[in-house]
Amino acid sequence: MTVPEPAEQPQCLEVVCEAAGTLLEVPPGTSILEAARQAGLEVTAPCADGLCGACETWVLEGRPDHRDGLLTAEERACGETMLICVSRGSSRLVLDL
Ligand code: FES
Repeated sequence: MTVPEPAEQPQCLEVVCEAAGTLLEVPPGTSILEAARQAGLEVTAPCADGLCGACETWVLEGRPDHRDGLLTAEERACGETMLICVSRGSSRLVLDL
């Protein structure tokens, strides 16, 4: 009889808000926008659905996992900005927030 491997647990995403000097632990199912607002940061985000671009944020370090419907393929590949209302990261991110 073999013992099954434990299911891989979803990981929190670590996001450093460089301008605010804040570290966010963003759990699965929570957006970076939500986590930032919960931490007291004011972020303009009228649609919160990856469509308007108002929450576009500079990425200082890390690789975004783009989940929006707005950035072009070139912008996604470049990875200099991300829409924090829907997009995440595959590893730690440092953002200009
Ligand atoms: S709030 Fe509209 S794209 Fe993020």
